[in-house]
Amino acid sequence: MPTTRETVSIQELLAQRDFARKASELISRRYEHPPLAYVHSFGCQQNQSDGEKIKGMLAQMGYGFTDAPESAQLVIYNTCAVRENAEDRVFGHVGALKPLKKEHPDLMIGLCGCMMQQQSVADKIKNSYPYVDLVFGTHALHLLPELLYRRLSGEKRQFSLPEGNGRIAEGLPVRRDGKIKANLPIMYGCDNFCTYCIVPHVRGRERSRLPKDILAEAQDLAAQGYREITLLGQNVNSYGKGLPEPIDFSDLLRQVDAVPGDFMIRFMTSHPKDCTRKLIDTIAASKKIYHHIHLPVQSGSDRVLAAMNRRYTVEDYLQLIGYARERMPDVTFSSDIIVGFPGETREEFEQTLQLIRQVEYTALFTFIYSRRSGTKAAQMDDPVPAEEKSRWMRELLDTQSAIREKQQEAFIGKTIRVLADGYGKAGEGWISGRNDSNDIVEFKGPGSAIGRFVNVKIERAMNWALFGTLV
Ligand code: 5AD
Ligand code: SF4
Repeated sequence: MPTTRETVSIQELLAQRDFARKASELISRRYEHPPLAYVHSFGCQQNQSDGEKIKGMLAQMGYGFTDAPESAQLVIYNTCAVRENAEDRVFGHVGALKPLKKEHPDLMIGLCGCMMQQQSVADKIKNSYPYVDLVFGTHALHLLPELLYRRLSGEKRQFSLPEGNGRIAEGLPVRRDGKIKANLPIMYGCDNFCTYCIVPHVRGRERSRLPKDILAEAQDLAAQGYREITLLGQNVNSYGKGLPEPIDFSDLLRQVDAVPGDFMIRFMTSHPKDCTRKLIDTIAASKKIYHHIHLPVQSGSDRVLAAMNRRYTVEDYLQLIGYARERMPDVTFSSDIIVGFPGETREEFEQTLQLIRQVEYTALFTFIYSRRSGTKAAQMDDPVPAEEKSRWMRELLDTQSAIREKQQEAFIGKTIRVLADGYGKAGEGWISGRNDSNDIVEFKGPGSAIGRFVNVKIERAMNWALFGTLV
C-alpha cells in the first residue's frame, strides 16, 4: 500500500485564517465579553493534542475557556472510537446537553474526533441529535473556523467528513494544556491494521511530518521552558515512510536529543514489530531520552498475536526486551494488554499472565476486547462470555499489582530524579511529580519546585504513589 503524504496547502490555511478573522469580528459584535468555550478531548494523547489545536483556533477567534459546560457558549467534544464504552460516554454527555440547549438556544455544540469520522455515527447525530450544530471528522480539524463561522452566521448545521486519507496541516495555532509537559505529534494515521483496531479506519494512512517542522517545534518548546516533550504517533517506529529525505525514528530522536535545553524526551507508541536495535542503541546513547519504553505487547500467545495481525512472536518480543536490558540495565517497560480477543482460550490468557510476570512492567494499560464494526476481528467468533472475560481481567490486574508492589518496595531508600509537575494529593505542602518510568512520586517541598527536576529520597510506598523527601 503506497504511503501518501498530502498536505493542506497554504492557500487553504490562509482561507481558514480569513474565516477565523470573520468569526472573531462577528463574535465581538455579538457578545459583550469574550464568549467561553468548553473543549473536552476523550481518548489518547493524539486526541488531546488535536484538542490543543482546536483551542488554539478558538482562541484566535476570540473565545476564552471554561471547565464548566454550563457556563460555556460553545461546547466541543473531541471523541474517541477505540472502544465501545468511550463511545457510550460521548452519547451520554451529548444527551445531557439537550436541556442546556433548550434553556440557551444560542449555545453552540460541536462534535469531532475519531467517532465522527465514521459516516454511521455522523448519520446518527444528524437524525437523532438535532441540537448538535457542528460535526467534523479528524480529517476536517483545520476547517473549524469555516464551519463555526458559517453556523454562527445562521447557516444550517455543518457536517464535514472528508473522505480519503487525511492530510497534514502545518502551522495551526496551538493552545497547550500545560507549561511543563508538551505533546509533539510527529506523524498521523496508522498502516498496521491490527484486526481489533478502528484507528486506521478513522485516522487514515500513516503520514510523517517533516523533520524540520518537528525540530522547529521542539526548539520552540525548549525555549519556552517545557521540561518534557512526548513525541506522538500511532506507531512512532515507522516514522519517516514517504518523506522526501530518508530518515527513520532513531535519526529523528537523535536530532531532537541534540536540541539545546533542560528537557527530557518520551515517545509513544512503539510497535514491537518495528522497534529496532538501532532505536535501543539510540536511547542508550542519548542524553535526554528517558530509559522507559511503552511497548504494547497486547497478548502473550503467538496464536492470538497472529490473529491480531501484530506480526511478531512472543520470542521476538522477549529478545527485544532482553537486548534493551543488556544495553540499559535501568530500562523499564509499560504495555497495553487486550483481554478476551475473539477466540482467546483460558490457556492463551494464562500465557499473557506468564509474559507479564516475566517482563515485570512498571505499568499496564488493560482493556477488555471491544468489538468495532468495520474491523476484521468483528467478523470472528467470540464465544467467551463477558463475565468470564471480566474474571480474567481481575486476575490480570491482581497479577500486575503484586509485581508492582514488589517494584515499589524496591524503591525505598533510593534517591531518584523526579520532574515536579504540580501539587500533591497527600496533603498541604506536598508536591507531586513523575520519575523516568512515569511513576507518581510525592514529597514535601516548596511550590517553586514545580517545573523542575529534583532528587527525592524514597521512604514509603503505596500502590498509587511513592513518598519521599527532597534531597
Ligand atoms: N478493544 C480493546 N482494546 C483495544 N485497543 C485498541 N482497540 C481495541 C479494541 N477494539 C487497545 C490496544 C491499544 C490501545 C491504545 O487500545 O491495547 O494498544
Ligand atoms: Fe491500532 Fe495497531 Fe495501529 Fe496501534 S498499531 S493504532 S493498535 S492498528
